Amino acid sequence: MIILRTVPELRTFIHDWQHQGQTIGLVPTMGYLHDGHLSLIDHTKPNCDRLIVSIFVNPTQFAPGEDLDRYPRNFERDEKLVADHGAHAIFYPDSKEMYSDGFRTFVIVEGLGNVLCGRTRPTHFRGVTTIVAKLFHLTRCDVAAFGQKDYQQTLLIRRMAEDLNFDVQILVCPTVREADGLAMSSRNSYLSPEERGRAPILYNTLIKGQQLCLAGENDAGKIKQEMKKMAKTIPGVSVDYLEVVDANDLRTLQKITGPAVLAGAVWVGSTRLIDNVIIGA
Ligand code: PAJ
Repeated sequence: MIILRTVPELRTFIHDWQHQGQTIGLVPTMGYLHDGHLSLIDHTKPNCDRLIVSIFVNPTQFAPGEDLDRYPRNFERDEKLVADHGAHAIFYPDSKEMYSDGFRTFVIVEGLGNVLCGRTRPTHFRGVTTIVAKLFHLTRCDVAAFGQKDYQQTLLIRRMAEDLNFDVQILVCPTVREADGLAMSSRNSYLSPEERGRAPILYNTLIKGQQLCLAGENDAGKIKQEMKKMAKTIPGVSVDYLEVVDANDLRTLQKITGPAVLAGAVWVGSTRLIDNVIIGA
């Protein structure tokens, strides 16, 4: 497996692979890999000839005061995991490589990036779509994989790929969870043992909402109310949002009449966790 640290190095390999008629798969990550990331590699591998995993803690998707500086990193461990899962290359640039002095071009998907997580993190998604557009462009990937855990992110990326004519197949892979339901996340490493014990409340709350839907409740307001009531039972946990939205355009729903998503973000101590479940898709 090769480690590519610069854009020219990456371009050389991409050029050679394309010249040989090989298809390219991409799994974009910010590293500190867990089984969720590794499942994306496993899903993508059979769909391409050459698989690249990018590891880049993307500064433009963090606002000042967020956790950019303390975001967990362990490249040696990541490198071994990626190699064990049969990827062909890691793209591991530094910030200067991706954002040269004077950088001022962003990709913004109107309307989808200012709801749910975008309310609390207004500049987050323009950072995500900008770096993913750059990675699609640089790797010329035929297929790329993303996790359902970041449902809003997957919708923005699909929209961007369609709108900017990226010829890339987007795979969305199921959320990988710990045994108690907590969605795996690099940020789970911030949780103290006590907080870790409280963290499954988010998934349990979403499951409660899902059960209400399955029992025939379609009043989104009632479902939200029940979910909020449940989340409040755990001390040290505060709700950022618990929403019922249209699965296609993230519109807040009053009544569930088609595919919907129950999406939530909670603070457990100073750690923000997100999760979602899809209804009726
Ligand atoms: P990161 O949080 O490292 O996640 C990389 C990819 O792994 C994303 O597609 C995310 O949805 C997926 N993922 C994370 N946890 C998962 C889980 N428990 N189960 C399944 N998939 C999971 O998301 C990002 O990085 C960045 O925004 C990125 C797309 C790399 C752009 O910088």
